[in-house]
Amino acid sequence: MDKAWWKEAVVYQVYPRSFMDSDGDGIGDINGILMKLDYLQELGVNVIWLSPVYQSPNDDNGYDISDYKAIMTEFGTMADFDRLLKAVHERGMKIMMDLVVNHSSDEHPWFEESRSSKDNPKRDYYIWKPGRNGKEPNNWESIFKGSAWEYDERTDEYYLHLFSRKQPDLNWENPKLREEIYSIMTWWLNKGVDGFRMDVINFLSKDQSYSDGAIQHEKQYGDGSPFFLNGPRIHEFLQEINQRALSGHDVITVGEMPGVTPEEAQLFTGKDRGELHMVFQFEHMDLGKGPEGKWSNDKWKLTELKRILSKWQTGLEGDGWNSLYWNNHDQPRVVSRFGHDGKYRIESAKMLAACLHMLQGTPYIYQGEELGMTNVAFESIDEYRDIETLNSYDELVHSHGWSKERMMSAIHARSRDNARTPIQWNDSRNGGFTKGTPWIKVNPNFPEINAEKAYNDPNSIFHFYKKLIQLRKEHDIVVYGRFELLLPDDERIFAYTRSFEEEKLLVLCNFKEEQASYTLPEELHAYSATKLIGNYDQEEEGISSKPLQPYECRVYHLK
Ligand code: NOJ
Repeated sequence: MDKAWWKEAVVYQVYPRSFMDSDGDGIGDINGILMKLDYLQELGVNVIWLSPVYQSPNDDNGYDISDYKAIMTEFGTMADFDRLLKAVHERGMKIMMDLVVNHSSDEHPWFEESRSSKDNPKRDYYIWKPGRNGKEPNNWESIFKGSAWEYDERTDEYYLHLFSRKQPDLNWENPKLREEIYSIMTWWLNKGVDGFRMDVINFLSKDQSYSDGAIQHEKQYGDGSPFFLNGPRIHEFLQEINQRALSGHDVITVGEMPGVTPEEAQLFTGKDRGELHMVFQFEHMDLGKGPEGKWSNDKWKLTELKRILSKWQTGLEGDGWNSLYWNNHDQPRVVSRFGHDGKYRIESAKMLAACLHMLQGTPYIYQGEELGMTNVAFESIDEYRDIETLNSYDELVHSHGWSKERMMSAIHARSRDNARTPIQWNDSRNGGFTKGTPWIKVNPNFPEINAEKAYNDPNSIFHFYKKLIQLRKEHDIVVYGRFELLLPDDERIFAYTRSFEEEKLLVLCNFKEEQASYTLPEELHAYSATKLIGNYDQEEEGISSKPLQPYECRVYHLK
């Protein structure tokens, strides 16, 4: 197994809008992040992934960029950013930028030029097509609902937007556009940033046929994904990104890749491929998807979750590399989703943390996860801010006849805003996030769940995460050990081993509210075992045969 610093690292994702507001405008900002660097250093994370901080009209909270070399006015200035980068480096940490280059904002000067006339030199920076029989060029649906094409009367053509109409897709077929992106990346690398998280990077190469996608039962639009997911030139583009922008820089890269399989991920992350270090796969996040996508919110089974994660563990063993995540700014809070956000909030948040951090791969912590922050249930749709949530509400309630109650309950379970409520720093007004009016309401549970309280309690979820991060630094096996699933058919317990040289780790996690007993393979009892970490206090010698308590986890080191 080749060693690398980015395999040994733990990444912490900051969603700047909701992290910390330093100036009272209700919006988190760069100076707010600076105020909390001691906190992140105390936690022990190595890399901070900053969700986009670039100039943006914020149709999709910064994932619609209008100037790739400027800082969003609400977040501060480039001087603030430079101070942040310096301060992060002084603390021995690194910054990973979000690179959003499948699309830009429609307010980017490139798009303004592109839409101005068919013979503008920037016309081909974007994807323009004539209509078909007076309608859209094909039947693709936008990920944020409605058609993926927008008609522009100035030139009587349509442009492609896989996300909102304010996020036109860039045309990667155009070498000039690609050069622009490499020069932007080089500009940031020369500033000293330490890597990139690449937004929907497997959408870059579109099948040039632009054929219609299949239409599912009763749907208005077709699914275009077979024509843009991992398209024909995707590996070429990623290799070119490396050659033209990344080479010579020892930086971390992770590509966000909806729909990716382990076989494809092996090609994207294989060590001799010159593409990416790791990808964000979505299979475990897609559990419970039904006919209405994530809003169906169907039941999930532990055996399914285990099957998916172990397939990824073994699929990338030895050559590729995994990212490990339960949460990000697009997903509900994990303790509400796979844990128990009531009585067993603390136990289940710790169990989920151990279960993830003991797998092979680079772990990502999403802000507030280390506090066991939960989903939120705002009463009215007016309190939601996320474009995907609002558009979906509109479509499902107003066009598909869903009752408001049904949709609100789906939103409470699955909306991206579950992850975007402000960080709860203390029990003062607005959870200490802002002195003004927050851009989105703070979760009302902040008096109970907040960083100050967690910090002062040695048994908190925060201190548990801190210990997990330390264990990673102390034991090579946590980073490099080979994974093997135990008890694949057990619906309550996620159990696995890791093996490295003569040692093993044994990880036992109970995902249920009930006690769970287990029988382990005989050979494990031949080792001498010490407990490295667990979320219930009892100390034992050797592997305990006692049933696991509700949401209990135990990690043993076997020698
Ligand atoms: C994935 C990002 O994580 C999400 O927040 C965003 O809406 C889309 N890509 C479009 O950029």
